[in-house]
Amino acid sequence: MVAAGAGAGAGGWARPPSGEAPVPLAAVDGDTAAPRSTGVGELDRVLGGGLVPGSVTLVGGEPGIGKSTLLLQATIRMAEHGRSCLVVCAEESVQQVKRRALRLGSLPEGVWVVAETSMAGILAAVGSLAPERLVVDSIQTIADPEVESSPGSMTQVRSCAARLVEATKASGMATVLVGHVTKDGTLAGPRVLEHLVDTVLCFEGERHHALRLLRAVKHRFGPTGELGLFEMTDSGLRDVPDPGQLFLGDRQAGTSGSAVFPAMEGQRPVLVEIQALTIASELPVPRRSASGLDGGRLALLAAVLETRAGVKLSRHEVYASAVGGVRVTEPGADLATVLALASAAGGVPLPDDLVACGEIGLAGEVRQVAHTERRLAEAARLGFRRAVVARSTDLPRCPLPLIRVVSVRDALCQLDIPASRPESRAPGRARVTA
Ligand code: TYD
Ligand code: MG
Repeated sequence: MVAAGAGAGAGGWARPPSGEAPVPLAAVDGDTAAPRSTGVGELDRVLGGGLVPGSVTLVGGEPGIGKSTLLLQATIRMAEHGRSCLVVCAEESVQQVKRRALRLGSLPEGVWVVAETSMAGILAAVGSLAPERLVVDSIQTIADPEVESSPGSMTQVRSCAARLVEATKASGMATVLVGHVTKDGTLAGPRVLEHLVDTVLCFEGERHHALRLLRAVKHRFGPTGELGLFEMTDSGLRDVPDPGQLFLGDRQAGTSGSAVFPAMEGQRPVLVEIQALTIASELPVPRRSASGLDGGRLALLAAVLETRAGVKLSRHEVYASAVGGVRVTEPGADLATVLALASAAGGVPLPDDLVACGEIGLAGEVRQVAHTERRLAEAARLGFRRAVVARSTDLPRCPLPLIRVVSVRDALCQLDIPASRPESRAPGRARVTA
C-alpha cells in the first residue's frame, strides 16, 4: 500500500518525462562508456582501465596524503596524449600548481588551470574550454552563492557536487572531485557525496611511510577491491606494479615472532610479514595491541591459542602488527598471526621459507582460504618453499610443498613450536619473550 501523501513533496516525482523511447539492450552502443587511460598505471588498475567519459569520480583522503599530486600527474599524462584537462585549484594559487607540475617533470600543452572557488566561475570555465577532463581540488572549498549556506557546509558541498555531476553528464567530460577526509571520516565531504558520484576512490597511507594505497570503494564501471600501490618520491608518485617483496624488504631471518601471510589485495597477491611480541604482565587484564590488524580478532586468536593449544597468554601482554604500513583484515591471516604469536611466546623462529594461510575458528580448527593457489604461486615466485594450509585445501596445481593442518595445535606440533618457553620464568619480573 502506498502511504498517504507519498511523493507529494518528493522532487523526483515532479520530473518531466525524458522523452526517450525504450531500445533493445543488445543494440545499445557500449563503446561510449569505455574507460580511457589516465596514463598512470596504478590509477588505471583501480579504475579498471581509466576514466569513463561522462563520469564523476571522487578521490577522498586525508590532507597531505598526495591527492593533488596524483591528480596533477594524471592530468599531465593525459595532456601528453593530447587530451585537454582543466584543473580548478580552489585551495592553491596557479603558481603553486605550476611549481608542483615542474617538480613532477614535464609540463605539456593542454593542461589548463584556474584558481576559482565559485560554482558559476567553474561552469563558465568549463563552458568556454570544453575540456575532456575536469579536476576540482577540492569540492569542500567550492561554493555556490545561490545556495543559502556557508561555504564548506554539507548543503554547499552536496549542491555543488550535484551541479558538477549535471554538467559532466551534459558535456561528456570525465570529472574528478577531490575531497578531504579526516581519520574518522566525519568532515563534510566524501561521505555525503558517495551516492551522487559514479566512483569513489580512497587514497590512504601512513604519512611517515612513502607507501600510498588507492582503492575503489564504489565503482559503477568495474569491480571494487582492486588495490593501486604508489611510492611518494621527491618527483611525485611512482607506480609500484610488482608489490611482491614490498613489505618483506627489511625482514630479519631467524627471528621468533614473525610469520608471512600471502594476502590478496584485489586481484593481486601481496606478501605481508606479521610480527608478534609477548611479554609477561602483572596487570589484571594484560594489553592486546594490534597495528595493521584487527584488534578484536587479535584478542580472539590469543584466547583460541591458549584454550585450544595450551599457549599461555592470559598473563602476557600481546602485540601484533602487519609490517610496512599495510592493513590486513582478511580472516585468512589468522593462521599466520597465531603462528607468529606462538613463535614469540615459545621463543622459536618459524622457518624463513614458510608462508601460512588459514582462517581459525573458535574451536581452534583451521579453515581454507579463497584463492590459495594464486597466493601460493606468488609466494613460490618470491622464493618461499613451503606453505601451511588447512587440510581441506583443494589445489589442482600446487605451487609449493604443503604442510596440511587441521587445527592450531596440529600446526604447532608439525612445526615443532612448543606451547611455552622451556626455561622457568622469574616471578614478578616482566621479560620479553620474543
Ligand atoms: P599533496 O598532493 O599536496 O596532498 P593532498 O592534496 O592530499 O593534501 O601532497 C602533499 C605531500 O606530498 C607533501 O607533504 C609533499 C609531498 N610531495 C612529495 O613528497 N613529492 C612530490 O613530488 C610532491 C609533489 C609532493
Ligand atoms: Mg591538495
